[in-house]
Amino acid sequence: MFGRTFSDIGIDLGTCNTLIYIRGKGIVLNEPSMVALEKGTKKILAIGADAKPMQFKNPANIIVIKPLQEGVIADLESTEKMIRRFISKVMPRYRFIKPRMVIGIPSCITEVERRAVEESAYKAGAREVIVIEESLAAAIGAGIPIMEPAGHMICDIGGGTSEISVISLGGMVVSRAIRIGGDKFDDAIIRYVRSTYNLIIGGGVAERLKIEIGNAFPDIVIEKVEIKGTDAITLLPRRLEIDSVAVREALKEPITKIVEEIKATMGQTPAELNADIADRGICMTGGGSLLKGLDQLISKETGVPVFLAPEPLNCVALGAGKYFETFKGSARTDYDDLN
Ligand SMILES: Nc1ncnc2c1ncn2[C@@H]1O[C@H](COP(=O)(O)OP(=O)(O)OP(=O)(O)O)[C@@H](O)[C@H]1O
Ligand SMILES: [Mg+2]
Repeated sequence: MFGRTFSDIGIDLGTCNTLIYIRGKGIVLNEPSMVALEKGTKKILAIGADAKPMQFKNPANIIVIKPLQEGVIADLESTEKMIRRFISKVMPRYRFIKPRMVIGIPSCITEVERRAVEESAYKAGAREVIVIEESLAAAIGAGIPIMEPAGHMICDIGGGTSEISVISLGGMVVSRAIRIGGDKFDDAIIRYVRSTYNLIIGGGVAERLKIEIGNAFPDIVIEKVEIKGTDAITLLPRRLEIDSVAVREALKEPITKIVEEIKATMGQTPAELNADIADRGICMTGGGSLLKGLDQLISKETGVPVFLAPEPLNCVALGAGKYFETFKGSARTDYDDLN
């Protein structure tokens, strides 16, 4: 029984977070995709949740890196070690049962990087490894009936990338990805606060601002929060009260690019499938989709209804874990004996 339960593992190898889903157990790991290294020697000091508190607050001899940046593997060696560490963490006692692993990765990854991810999973003890596009995994995880002969649009806004795909009959009809996601939202806030208020803030403050009062669509309620940073002129600590209208202004540029990308994807989609999308709406997944009012903005700009997946942050891992059962017995395998 254990053999069955632990035989399929779904992994969302994200720029910001790595999640592991095991059939029958649910999400068993959810940690930041981060590695803390000793400068010079590159010795690993911490991985995942242990490395996160060191980010932004590290002394000079420690560097904290996100091995996957903007959806591409910036540091292959650290990525490999991170994957191996995470996998061994969730199955330390079951190493003798070799699992099948399905890993969701951004579609803009190169062939070399894809193979490196595969290799790391084999080294971590996989019996079989399948690497799939993150938006395909997201669609399965969102519960979308992807095997239907109908167009479904999925828009996964992660930390490093936004991937927009149209899926029908279990395959990608159109897929576009841009290297803009939640991390770029944070950068845009940092730049805006610096140029508008002469205040230097760090990535942690910018992310908090985005999550607390960030928004993409005008609302009657204007929210305010106090932030702290360094005055760009005096270089002394300073407080500032900032409101949601200012944060919306700050986020305008990266958000407009995502909206344009969605429109461009629709432009490449066959008319029949666009008709299905108009009926069914666009499904949004990924942490970036949680930005307040983003669904409303996309809906207004495209004229198509937009809905958020039930667990936007977990969809890729869930879908990767359910990959085998989704494709089992599908039209693709029914004719195997004739092929
Ligand atoms: N409530 C929220 N509002 C706005 N942004 C949010 C919210 N919660 C999380 N985020 C942002 O979502 C991003 C992380 O999302 P997610 O975990 O889906 O990314 P990822 O899968 O690691 O990245 P990628 O898919 O690009 O590789 C971060 O930028 C985070 O700040
Ligand atoms: Mg993701």
